[in-house]
Amino acid sequence: MAKEQGRTDLRAVLQGAGYRVIELERKLAGASNHRADAVAYASNADGDLVPWLVVEAKRGKTATPEMALPQLLTAREHLGTVEHYALINGEWFRADRSLRSFERVDGPLPPTHGDYGVLADVATATSLYMDRLWFEASKARGNGPRVDLFFPSAKILEETARPGIQTAGGEFVPVRDDVLWQARRRALSAFALRGPQGGAHTTAPVIADAVARLLGSKLVGTVLDPFCGTGNFLWSAMDRAAEFDAPVEFVGQEINVELAELAEQIGRTAPMLTTITAGDSFASDFLPAADAIVTAPPFGPQMRHDWTLLDGSPAREIETAAVDLCLRQLRPGARAVCLLPGGFTSKKSLEFYRRFLARDFRVGALIGLPAGAVEGTNLRAVLLVVDRAESGETFVAQLGDDWSAQLSATGAAMNAALAHLDGE
Ligand SMILES: C[S@@+](CC[C@H](N)C(=O)[O-])C[C@H]1O[C@@H](n2cnc3c(N)ncnc32)[C@H](O)[C@@H]1O
Repeated sequence: MAKEQGRTDLRAVLQGAGYRVIELERKLAGASNHRADAVAYASNADGDLVPWLVVEAKRGKTATPEMALPQLLTAREHLGTVEHYALINGEWFRADRSLRSFERVDGPLPPTHGDYGVLADVATATSLYMDRLWFEASKARGNGPRVDLFFPSAKILEETARPGIQTAGGEFVPVRDDVLWQARRRALSAFALRGPQGGAHTTAPVIADAVARLLGSKLVGTVLDPFCGTGNFLWSAMDRAAEFDAPVEFVGQEINVELAELAEQIGRTAPMLTTITAGDSFASDFLPAADAIVTAPPFGPQMRHDWTLLDGSPAREIETAAVDLCLRQLRPGARAVCLLPGGFTSKKSLEFYRRFLARDFRVGALIGLPAGAVEGTNLRAVLLVVDRAESGETFVAQLGDDWSAQLSATGAAMNAALAHLDGE
């Protein structure tokens, strides 16, 4: 009761000082379980809404403002806050800019630049969303299901009347439209990735971005992911298409109905035309001819369907059948980028098919990733880039521990691969 009262008072004081967006007990991303007692948002000099002020409250005979310093420093580091206060037994203390000393004040200063901005920072918006998802997950746990089995429902993704986020604490934070989309998809993917088996559901954004980059000049027309999971590969390709202002349409299919629904919900607010369906891609009339394919079929399971590969042999491994499926969907000149188990390049049983691929298609690149790079599995992985075009030389690389830097936009391996693939 006393705690509730304290919270109400804190909110009232901050509101009285001119702050409209206030979060109590704000979780600090990356800072274990630490929560800031209150964070108030305000406009910065550019008119963006940013976490502006943080309050750390302490009670007790021996409590001093200095005891709040570690938390205030953590908040500044993670949120970039500008004003820092310690609230000690109901008395306000304002920290100096360098967070070394405090002066006794009557209460928090009003926002320097007003509070009518719109949140423009993807990381802050993502963490507000994550917080909301955790909040919903623990509510769901109260009703029975385990948190690690919980998937966000449409309700949580529900559109607000204005572009913004309804936070876990019930505040409405106005968010720039494009930032909202980025934050929503990042938070949902990160949420789907939680837990040791996360990678089985969704591929980490760093890999999704690398896959999208490897599409290079082929990112046009219809982009397909026949094993789309939460749609991460499609969203990364969408980010790239937005950079070029390319008119691109995105199509995904996913056998797991819950995941397909999640991808569909994310896609509904995407800035480009997106169609996601639930279904088995090996038994589907739905898949369109594609100008570009990005995909990560499941790692490991044996093929349950009868699937005859393009070279006439039967498929046993699901990843071989998946590559084969992609090749069938590619329009002439189009490109597929597939994340596959490393065994695709080494298994003896696939030698015949690999030779067929090298002869009848352009295997543009094979980039090996070390064990552990793909979350949820300890298998080595490989990025296969194949064009429906005349056969030619293959760019081959085996990456080590610095694989994610190598595959970044400025990474040496990425640039060498693209130079080879597209002659850039
Ligand atoms: C490695 S995950 C893809 C993750 C996705 N790239 C992401 O980031 O969310 C492989 C996905 O293929 C799906 N899948 C398995 N068999 C399928 C099939 N026959 N048709 C369509 N999807 C299938 C699985 O349910 C799983 O979500």
